[in-house]
Amino acid sequence: MEQRNLLVTGGAGFIGANFVHYWLAQYPQDKVIVLDALTYAGNKANLDIVANNSNMIFVHGNICDTALIESLIDTHQLNTIVHFAAESHVDRSITGPDAFIETNILGTYSLLKAAKKKWIDEPKAQGNPTPEHRFHHVSTDEVYGTLSATDPAFTEETAYAPNSPYSASKAASDHLVRAYHHTYGLEVTTSNCSNNYGPYHFPEKLIPLIVTNILNDKPLPVYGDGQQIRDWLYVEDHARGIDLVLNKGRIGENYNIGGNNEWANIDIVKLVCKVMSEKFAANPNLAERYPNALSAIAGKTENLITYVQDRAGHDRRYAIDATKTNNELGYVPAESFETGFAKTLDWYLDNQQWWQPLL
Ligand SMILES: NC(=O)c1ccc[n+]([C@@H]2O[C@H](COP(=O)([O-])OP(=O)(O)OC[C@H]3O[C@@H](n4cnc5c(N)ncnc54)[C@H](O)[C@@H]3O)[C@@H](O)[C@H]2O)c1
Repeated sequence: MEQRNLLVTGGAGFIGANFVHYWLAQYPQDKVIVLDALTYAGNKANLDIVANNSNMIFVHGNICDTALIESLIDTHQLNTIVHFAAESHVDRSITGPDAFIETNILGTYSLLKAAKKKWIDEPKAQGNPTPEHRFHHVSTDEVYGTLSATDPAFTEETAYAPNSPYSASKAASDHLVRAYHHTYGLEVTTSNCSNNYGPYHFPEKLIPLIVTNILNDKPLPVYGDGQQIRDWLYVEDHARGIDLVLNKGRIGENYNIGGNNEWANIDIVKLVCKVMSEKFAANPNLAERYPNALSAIAGKTENLITYVQDRAGHDRRYAIDATKTNNELGYVPAESFETGFAKTLDWYLDNQQWWQPLL
């Protein structure tokens, strides 16, 4: 597609905002309309660094508002939707699944309905050809369920077996996207990505939670035995993967995006502890900036680790086999875990004004 006019849903959230930063830097001629309801997880400040870019427009609204989506497609001549908006925290889906059903399932349905009407039905009724378009749906590896330590990693052929209300709602939305392609010919792609980490990650999620708790000298909660295994990918590498799917992916296909980087949760927590202790030892200014971080100042962050009751139905292991995406699209993550991790911790240390109000 020569010029993309994109609707980025959930663009004020963690991955969506990083994607908007990435996209405007890569494709300065494209127009990006961000639609975000600014739930607790959405934060307009995540878009501050592109706020003055005249090719970015922020719209405060809900993806369930089909009429709004239709009018945005018309007004901005949108030809691409990249759909990030979701309720994304598994713990919240256990205590309050309603919002997950509404946003993740009904919200995705609302976007599909609007896209079908504007890109397929209306042109057809007017005797015009279907315009070039793309609906890209951002999904997760969690839809595939859980693995034992020795199971092979998830491929795109792995049967869906979601175990939490969050992953079930994402799986439902993936199925709707697939059905809109097979039934109506909507030009869709879906990517299923592993755990992301990086800047602008809401501090309820593992890595920013551990970092910010260390800086406030609070206990570092670890679920169960801490041996749950996740694959971790630097968030900008997720954006690069979506870029490749948009530009080279085949319509109607799913693509796994992963970092080939499996870690047990407890080892991630211990790694954050170790790196934070090292940073405090190497830089005396940190003790001045973070006087509450007593354990970090004393080099004893691991003393804060506290095992807590495991999450209900907690999946044991996720692992992504991204062979298809690597071979077909030439995808390789750019960031090593070492460099991405160091950048991420530095970003939290440098951006207290961003995360402190969110605690
Ligand atoms: N975080 C991960 O590690 C990860 C991994 C794989 C896939 N994903 C998927 O990527 C997407 C983005 O995840 P994230 O971690 O950035 O989530 P997030 O919770 O940080 O951000 C979600 C954004 O969506 C917005 N939103 C929520 N409901 C909305 C609604 N009804 N209408 C409009 N906007 C709404 C929120 O305000 C927020 O800005 C999700 O679809 C998630 O399932 C996340």
